[in-house]
Amino acid sequence: MSTFSAPKGTFDLLPPDSEAVLAVRAAMAAPLRTAGYGYIETPVFEDTALFERGVGESTDVVSKEMYSFVTRGDDHVTLRPEGTAGVVRAAIQHRLYAGTLPVKLWYSGSFFRYERPQAGRYRHFSQVGAEALGVDDPALDAELIALAMRAYADLGLTRVRLLLNSLGCRECRPVYRAALQEFLRGLDLDEDTRRRVEINPLRVLDDKRPQVQAQLTDAPVVGDSLDEACRAHYDAVRATLSDLGVQWEEAPRLVRGLDYYTRTTFEFQHDGLGAQSAVGGGGRYDGLSEDVGGPPMPGVGWALGVDRTLLALKAEGVEVAGVAGVQVFAVPLGAEAKQRLISVVDALRRRGIAADVAYGDRGLKGAMKAADRSGARWALVAGDRDLADGVVQLKDLTSAEQEPVPLSEVVDQLEKRLQQ
Ligand code: HAM
Repeated sequence: MSTFSAPKGTFDLLPPDSEAVLAVRAAMAAPLRTAGYGYIETPVFEDTALFERGVGESTDVVSKEMYSFVTRGDDHVTLRPEGTAGVVRAAIQHRLYAGTLPVKLWYSGSFFRYERPQAGRYRHFSQVGAEALGVDDPALDAELIALAMRAYADLGLTRVRLLLNSLGCRECRPVYRAALQEFLRGLDLDEDTRRRVEINPLRVLDDKRPQVQAQLTDAPVVGDSLDEACRAHYDAVRATLSDLGVQWEEAPRLVRGLDYYTRTTFEFQHDGLGAQSAVGGGGRYDGLSEDVGGPPMPGVGWALGVDRTLLALKAEGVEVAGVAGVQVFAVPLGAEAKQRLISVVDALRRRGIAADVAYGDRGLKGAMKAADRSGARWALVAGDRDLADGVVQLKDLTSAEQEPVPLSEVVDQLEKRLQQ
């Protein structure tokens, strides 16, 4: 019979490597928690229309990459390709906008896009994200950007670059869109791209093909079309970033793959990842709430890619997490010893000492091998004779020295030795 593998574009996370994933998620969340962001969990699937209206029907994400299906109950649902639409949906549903503003939220979880898999691009991937809703204060944009940069720095990454742009608002963007369209209509483009010029011209700027990029050098940039309010907003974001000591690079051609963005947009890039260089990205989305049927509720946020951040750490040679392992490993010889040692191990665990037992009754040799592999510093070995004497053998696995310790004292003794 044939066996199964994880589906194309997905992978399993196994110990010990999986420890690094937990460490990355924790490091991304830590700065948010110190800045008043509360944890939110929303469903992994939502109504398909939420993404169509929120993310935008002409985006690649919605038109080509969604895992959409009709349920047995005839509901049209989609595995979330990103987190912002669901968070905004939840904020509208629970009327969070009626409370204290901004509403600051963070999340961590799985996302799904039917993309062509390659290094750093998966069909099932993991993000940590943050959203601040209800105020359009540019200082909030800067706060979020600074918190992401802090997370990368705390992880030990030194090669993350911040690319910054403003896409303007729904008043000034149409002016830019028209100018860009006029420019693009004069270029030598294939039919698909010409169609895109009419539907979503900003996306053409993101076309990676050299023959397209070569023609875009003189394309108008959105920064030249910003109205006064958008210009002031962008200046204020940059001023606060300077105050916070965050460095950035102006990226006048940075457009993002999701349609909801307004004003500030940014991407965190790493040069060690090849083509998939964005380790995170985000921006402001002041019209999203209204697009999905909610009240006016400006917002700004980002999502950091956990998988790509791991690749960036690897590229820089940074170790983020030690092996989880245990500190004490118990080797019982016989049924009675096993019963006793299981209780000792339980007592150790209750004091916060990581401990394990050789399960499976594989004999002394196999059990000692398991003790060595466990990473433990100490082994507890006991047979019938030890129990009759009321002791267990405490073995230092680094020096191989062994001494009997009274059973009643072994937990205290180990605690003391591990503190030394
Ligand atoms: P995004 O740029 O589509 O933004 O994704 C954010 C990050 O998720 C990317 O920079 C990348 O690191 C990671 N990522 C995206 N797709 C994949 C994939 N197929 N495989 C591996 N990693 C991937 C968003 O998702 C927005 N919701 C961010 C946001 C929040 N904007 C405002 N608030």
